[in-house]
Amino acid sequence: MEKESAIEKSKQYWEKIRNMEIEMFPEFVGGDIFGDKDYFYFAPSWHFKSGLITEQDIIDFKNDHSKKLLSIGSGPAFLEKVLVKLGVKKENITLSDIDFQVLPEDFKSKSINMREDWKTLGDEHYDLIILPESFLGVVKLENLFKVSADEFSQSKKDGLLHVLSQALLHLKPSGKIRINGHQLTEQEVLSVGEQLKSKGYKINIIFSNSLIEFQN
Ligand SMILES: C[S@@+](CC[C@H](N)C(=O)[O-])C[C@H]1O[C@@H](n2cnc3c(N)ncnc32)[C@H](O)[C@@H]1O
Repeated sequence: MEKESAIEKSKQYWEKIRNMEIEMFPEFVGGDIFGDKDYFYFAPSWHFKSGLITEQDIIDFKNDHSKKLLSIGSGPAFLEKVLVKLGVKKENITLSDIDFQVLPEDFKSKSINMREDWKTLGDEHYDLIILPESFLGVVKLENLFKVSADEFSQSKKDGLLHVLSQALLHLKPSGKIRINGHQLTEQEVLSVGEQLKSKGYKINIIFSNSLIEFQN
């Protein structure tokens, strides 16, 4: 009975997010994914469903205004605009993208190419670092059609190791990194986790329903 009411509660929360995004963004009226010439964009409700962002995160951010969120490859920031509507303070969110021009001007933002050093972050540290739908930006896609499956897999692992190494430099001691990792296999994720552990990082990795969560 208790389990049922928890499921019902999370369904209601998801419906609230879905209604909100339909009202805010015409792009998502017909469904929770839309594409333009370059990318597929995932609706905020999609990210809540995957667990990239949770209701508990919203509660935590609303209760503690010192908490900071960094989003990598934010694009038009559909998700982050919904977070603000839910009560997260805009000044506690930092957006970033390789293409600075796509980012909304009224948010704090940084230009970051995740394949390189994230030096524009200086010595800033975050409680939550998310990669909503941008992981493949770290892999050179033109390689996809030229390399073997093993080489492509290695390229994803190298990309993940690089992204995590950079993100860990900017993660608070009890912080979390969450990556929408549906392009990655569990084996790839675990292998990168082992590499980080062998470098001395004490991290906990959860890979579930294509969501990767790293805890310091
Ligand atoms: C599919 S859009 C995602 C937009 C948004 N986060 C979402 O969930 O809908 C991917 C974004 O990643 C950015 N991107 C691509 N390669 C990148 C890279 N190497 N470093 C940082 N951002 C990158 C693109 O400019 C684009 O805005």
